[in-house]
Formats: sequence, structure tokens, C-alpha cells
Amino acid sequence: SESGCLSIVVLGASGDLAKKKTFPALFNLFQQGFIQSGEVHIFGYARSDMSDEGLRERIRGYLKGASDEHLSQFLQLIKYVSGSYDNGAGFELLNKTISENETSENNQPGNSRRLFYLALPPSVYPSVCKMIRSCCMTPSSHTGWTRVIVEKPFGKDLDSAEELSAQLGELFDEEQLYRIDHYLGKELVQNLLVLRFANRFFLPLWNRDNIDNVQIVFREDFGTDGRGGYFDQYGIIRDIIQNHLLQVFCLVAMEKPVSLSPEHIRDEKVKVLQSVSCINHDEVVLGQYDGYKDDPTVPNESNTPTFASVVLRVHNERWDGVPFVLKAGKALSSKKAEIRVQFKDAPGDIFRCKKQGRNEFVIRLQPSEAMYMKLTVKKPGLEMATEQSELDLSYGLRYQDVKIPEAYERLILDTYVPSILHLLLSYFATHSIICTSHVRTKMQSSPSLQRTYPN
Ligand code: BG6
Repeated sequence: SESGCLSIVVLGASGDLAKKKTFPALFNLFQQGFIQSGEVHIFGYARSDMSDEGLRERIRGYLKGASDEHLSQFLQLIKYVSGSYDNGAGFELLNKTISENETSENNQPGNSRRLFYLALPPSVYPSVCKMIRSCCMTPSSHTGWTRVIVEKPFGKDLDSAEELSAQLGELFDEEQLYRIDHYLGKELVQNLLVLRFANRFFLPLWNRDNIDNVQIVFREDFGTDGRGGYFDQYGIIRDIIQNHLLQVFCLVAMEKPVSLSPEHIRDEKVKVLQSVSCINHDEVVLGQYDGYKDDPTVPNESNTPTFASVVLRVHNERWDGVPFVLKAGKALSSKKAEIRVQFKDAPGDIFRCKKQGRNEFVIRLQPSEAMYMKLTVKKPGLEMATEQSELDLSYGLRYQDVKIPEAYERLILDTYVPSILHLLLSYFATHSIICTSHVRTKMQSSPSLQRTYPN
């Protein structure tokens, strides 16, 4: 059931996420041969009345780095169906359009794989999933599967997250649902497991005896940028901290999983989240940038935070007393996402130098992926003086010929080509990055994380 016709349906095709992230990711997969004409068909679905060509024109400007010919070949794979999100007519038309392609061009008759990507606000997830369930499932006469990808924010609080989970759970089996977090697709987030558990350097140091604090920081140099209507309902904590930064936190703080199996990794994440003490109000800072309410889609009296800093304290043997500071903000002076592991000072200083700054291990997720270690060295020259320097692994320099995949490419690929991953895995038996990518997606499809630590 992992080959044959694949239909990728982007619901919310006219929206911001679809044009900025989903279609460009599909295009990159096309360029690398993971989406092939004849086997894969892409459908956009939204309310706007548009032709196929209308949708293609809308997204063309966001697809970069290809010849015109390549671009046109990709765009020709895309068809558009318009309809509402809560009534059957549009979805029946969508089903008909998908089926036509499955029967006319499918070189393996009787097999169909249907992947529905919800680039939509969560308020419409239940109705859209109901429609998919009643109108668009892979026909029972076919082999294959139907899968649904959803993203955060998955509810607003515990009750709404559980309600949403229950609603989707009535319609689909857990294996059919992929709850994705695109930060887990970022190269250096994928690298965290390898760094921590494959390097002797880090194993003995990664604890309260050596580490003073850990900072996990997200900053953006633009504001709501046309998304004020969405953002104002959720705020920075639900938009960034509860999902992206908390996933990064788990990978930094969790214990070594028994294996790279999805369940084992999920279990360790759950365990570390359960060890987080209640957040102390004195250790939370909230803010809103000046000018936020100038966005016409934001209400004048809005109180929604666009900046937050939260200290997490992990009550376990490894981390007791080490603050994990999670910070996120929009419209700040720069754009950056990084993890800073700050070490304690070396005891018994004999250099009597003026303070040089502490040892620090920095993992920069973006921009310009890098990891570097700040350390004190002898200043070159005759005198015995010290200075702060860096051991630097900048990906742009070290991996000049490697194109680092976009997070969404990896996530989408994981949902439909486990067979390729397995093939690659057996081929490059020690290649752990591919392995963690698969692990992550399966873990996301598990309900326990959501249940254990909702919004
Ligand atoms: C999204 C948030 O999940 O992540 C956006 O909704 C944010 O507000 C974006 O801009 C940041 O993603 P990236 O990959 O550009 O860091």
C-alpha cells in the first residue's frame, strides 16, 4: 500500500501557510524526485472561486530556484477545487476529481493513497474532517490509505485540546492522524538526539553539576504581518512556546530513550514534561510590541502577548535547580532561534583574569545553522593572558555542498514515504538523521503527548 497513485490535497490552498510553506515544500520534494508526474497529483481546496490557473499564479512567486520548465511541470500537477468547509457538495466534487485521476492515470489499478493537509484554522478541523470522512476516503475497493495532517494550535487549553482530540478520534484512527510541529523538521532540532547521545563529550556534562541554565530563544523581526486575526486569538505562548519551544525543550532535557522507536522517544518526552513543576508567576514576563494594535485585524483593546519569557524548572535528579528559560517574541530587533547551554564557572580560578565569560554551547537553529562552543583560551602572544574564543561548526562553511531541507519538506515526506525511509535506512545503516525524522512524525501521531501536556 506504499506505492501507486498518491493524491496530496491541500485544504486552505488560498491561505498564507499554503502559499508560503506547503506548496514550496511540495515543490522542493518535486525537484528532488519525491513527487513524480504521473504518480502524484496535488489538489488545492478552498472557498475562493478560482480556476486551476488562478491557484497556480497565486503560488508561482513563492516557488524558488528552478527553471521555468521545471516550474511549469510542477504547476501542471496542481488542480483546484472550490467549496465550503462544512457542506458535502464541495467535498463530493473534490472526491470526484481525485478519483478521476486515480482511475485514468494510475499505473497500479486499485491502489490509492490520499493525504489531506489541513492548512486551516483549528476551528474548522472537526467539520473538515467529518467531510473528508464522509466524502473523500480511499474507496474500500482499493488498497492504500487516507491520512490527515494537522498543525498547532491544537485547541486553546486542556479542555478544548481534549475535545478536538476526541472529535478527530471518532473519525480517524490514530495511525491516520499526523499532528506535526514544523520545528521538529529543522535540521538542528533533528540533530539534538545525535548530539546528546552519540557524543562522549556531552554525556557526563549534561546535568545540574555542570550546567548553570539553558535558554531556548525564538525571536522574529516582524510582527503579525497580515496574520493579526489569527494571532490575536492565540498569542505568543500558544503560537510558539507551547509547541515549538516545548518540543525543543523536551529534546534538550529528556533522558536517553531506550531506542529510536517513536514510542520510546515519546515516552521520554512525556516523562520530562511530567517533571516540570508548576510555573511560578514571578518567573513569567509578558509583553506586547508597540504598534501591534495598529494592525486593523487586531482589536484596539487587545491584551494578547507578543513576547513571553517563561522559566521551567525540572524537578528530577538531572536538572533540579537549573532554570530552562523559554523566550519568544515578535517584532524584535533580529530574527533568530537558538539554544544556549550555559555552563557553571570553572572552580578555583588560577588565572586571576578579569571575568572572560562562561563556557557556553550554542546551537543556532536559524538563520545560518551552526553550533559553537564558547571557551576561554590563551591569547596568542608572549604574555599569559586569556580571552574568550569559539570552536565553531557553521553549516554554511562545513557543509557547503549540502542543501539543508526546509522543515516542512521533511515532515510531509515522512507522512507518505516510510518505505523510502526504510530503504534508505537499511542502505545507510548508521544514518541516524533519517531515522529521527521518521521517529518524530510517528511520535507526533501519538495522542499521549497532547493529553499529558496540553496548551
Ligand atoms: C509558526 C508561527 O508556527 O512559526 C508563526 O505560527 C511563526 O507565528 C513561525 O512566524 C516561525 O517559523 P519559522 O520556521 O520561520 O521559524
